[in-house]
Amino acid sequence: MPRITYIDAAGTERTVEAQAGATVMEAAIRNGVPGIDAECGGACACATCHVYVDEAWVARVGEPGPMEEDMLDFASEVKPNSRLSCQIKLSDALDGLIVRTPAHQG
Ligand code: FES
Repeated sequence: MPRITYIDAAGTERTVEAQAGATVMEAAIRNGVPGIDAECGGACACATCHVYVDEAWVARVGEPGPMEEDMLDFASEVKPNSRLSCQIKLSDALDGLIVRTPAHQG
């Protein structure tokens, strides 16, 4: 069971246990983690599940796909480590992952 830590814009940390195969977005919603709206339910069509991947994890999480890149244009304050959390699938290799949620979605 991969553990993920979400850090919000105010610096509050929340660590949850996720199911392998779930996405970073799904794990947040299921565990009541605030800061991820996920209006489209994970279809890569809303950009309201924007997160910043911790620098130490960027290489392991990987680059966004072309569809995600396009959708990230609709997110605000996009940075090089921005990802849409519905497009990050969890596995045991991502146990310990840290992501930060932006102050605002959309
Ligand atoms: S939940 Fe809509 S793009 Fe991720």
